[in-house]
Amino acid sequence: MQTITLAGYADVREAYRQHDLEQALYDAGGVVMADSLLVLHGADHRRRRRVENRLFRRGTFRYWERAFLRDVVTDTLAPFAAAGRADLLELGYRTIMNLTAMVAGLDRPTGSVEEVDAAVDALYRFAKKFSEGATIVHTTRDPGKVRAEVAAALEEFDALFLQPSIARREALLTRFAAGEITEEDLPRDVLTALLRNWDELGIDRDVLRRECAFYLQAGSHSTADAFTHAADDFFAWAKREPAAADKARHDPALLQRCVYETLRLHPASPVAQRRALAPISLRGGTEIPEGSFVVLDIAAANRDPKVFDRPEVYDPLREVPADVPRWGHAFGGGMHACIGTELAGGVPAPEGHPVSESERVLGTVTLMLEALLAAGGRPDPDAAPQRDPHSARDHFASYPVVFEG
Ligand code: HEM
Repeated sequence: MQTITLAGYADVREAYRQHDLEQALYDAGGVVMADSLLVLHGADHRRRRRVENRLFRRGTFRYWERAFLRDVVTDTLAPFAAAGRADLLELGYRTIMNLTAMVAGLDRPTGSVEEVDAAVDALYRFAKKFSEGATIVHTTRDPGKVRAEVAAALEEFDALFLQPSIARREALLTRFAAGEITEEDLPRDVLTALLRNWDELGIDRDVLRRECAFYLQAGSHSTADAFTHAADDFFAWAKREPAAADKARHDPALLQRCVYETLRLHPASPVAQRRALAPISLRGGTEIPEGSFVVLDIAAANRDPKVFDRPEVYDPLREVPADVPRWGHAFGGGMHACIGTELAGGVPAPEGHPVSESERVLGTVTLMLEALLAAGGRPDPDAAPQRDPHSARDHFASYPVVFEG
């Protein structure tokens, strides 16, 4: 099969918008990804996305940020700061775990601190395993072994989280149908949305399980990865340009640009892959024959010198063309564009127009970076960060930091 790689910014943008290019990155990751939103195509994808999009309406995350996101971030950080050290990967996953579980519709215990901690530990373990399953194409381990571990984790996840969450929602939906409770009393999460639209979506319990597992890992892995890279880039920048970095520490809009610059340089998904269902001609002249395999090289496109001046340089103060997001293609585009963009990345402040605090949506990654820096987080001088030896991707396996007040 012919493989065509697109590495220019404009080609990738155009390819994302082609309806005849279908998802092909997760063919090997079917154990957790089969029939999930990210692999559906055409009418099936449109139906599922319409149902799930309702949860991600504009304004939802502005409300979340004001109501509880900041607290989730600082509460998760507090015990690490008190202990004087943390690993950014663990801190990132722990912060985002509760949020993605909430979006997916997985209830957590509300009892003792030990119970809550144990649930977050379990979710963290599942998210890491599901993520390994989804990106099996990049694994350097035995794929058969990874698949078996993911299947076992799915069973455990089902019993511990999914079945109790389904039972609670089905009971609520029965009461809703009987007019005993209103729309306001129903949880706003993916699981409830799928249960309510069961017949229209034509899904079964296995698909439901994989969709919830997919959400858990899609939201958490990318956010934890972005957070770790954002901190790493910021620390390096603070060494090179201490005055500029110091200004950013006290300016959330500028810190958000730091995060966008990190997303551009270290996209959590460095490539997207698609299969051509029909012949396609791109405006730049590339011909894509039917049946060919198309690699959208996001990491390269995000460093396209035609769009980004001095593309290799981490420069949060850079200027970018008006129609180009500062994160480049890090959140994808077209039909599969990341549904969690606003939750993770917030809403960019319009150039030259300061946004009031009540209007601003910074996004989880910026909130996390802001809290880390405010707590005096810096790289552990005695323990260097480690790259992930089991992935060909640009991921850290550990990133020790210490806190000084
Ligand atoms: C910094 C954080 C994040 C990054 C960099 C990121 C990146 C991406 C990218 C590149 C895609 C498209 C993949 C493709 O076209 O093949 C995507 C899709 C998706 N993301 Fe994210 N994501 C992030 C956070 C989140 C969060 C927090 C959630 C949910 C809670 C989420 C849920 C999804 C879903 C459901 C899709 C599939 C959309 C569809 O197929 O229609 N992501 N993400």
